[in-house]
Amino acid sequence: MAHSERLVPVLTIDGPSGSGKGTISARVADALGWHLLDSGAIYRAVGFAAGMAGLDLSDGEAVTRCAETTKILFRDPKDGGGTRVIVNGLDATADIRAETCGAAASAIAAIPSLRAALFEKQRSFRKNPGLVADGRDMGTVIFPDAQHKIFLTASAEERAKRRYKQLKEKGLSVTLATLFREIEARDLRDAERAVAPLKPAADAVLIDSTGMSIDVVVAKVLELVRS
Ligand code: C5P
Repeated sequence: MAHSERLVPVLTIDGPSGSGKGTISARVADALGWHLLDSGAIYRAVGFAAGMAGLDLSDGEAVTRCAETTKILFRDPKDGGGTRVIVNGLDATADIRAETCGAAASAIAAIPSLRAALFEKQRSFRKNPGLVADGRDMGTVIFPDAQHKIFLTASAEERAKRRYKQLKEKGLSVTLATLFREIEARDLRDAERAVAPLKPAADAVLIDSTGMSIDVVVAKVLELVRS
């Protein structure tokens, strides 16, 4: 690792799905004027590309090759609006947010060679003036030398409710009970996998956001980075 790369400040925000990481990371990156790495979107994009190619998600070699060759771009539209995720030239922003893509991402994320294939891609987001990295293993595997680490969580019930609201707002058809079951199953798979399991880094600050507003969590995180 280049010395200059190590000096670029990194804030890692890890935690289970629906903990609010995505929203909090985007807001904090914006407030600090730092870059943002949504690593979950990378896994989702590979899951999407593998689905498009009709791959068997349990075929480690095939999905690893898919991760190596899939072109993923994050594009910020000049006329505002959220970041677009372009996968092999296709705008997959909405598709990758579907629960089927989340489940595909979680399944392929357990494959060690696939995680290794995505390692450098994620590290390349570390650029001045700083990076907010959102994921499951940002503080433990990808940026173990990050200056600031947070592990953000919330109860499974609250996370299911938040996800339900988000997906409904996007006009997707889901039920709360199904989401709750899916979140629990995904948590278990993410926490129990042998490679880069979901767990707080030893030096991470734990924040339980159950019952906390987004503004309060953002303020807490900014206070931590600035102190
Ligand atoms: O964060 P998000 O829900 O978009 O991530 C989708 C899936 O990708 C997660 O359930 C997890 O299995 C996987 N993932 C991962 N490591 C990361 C980010 C996401 O394994 N750093």
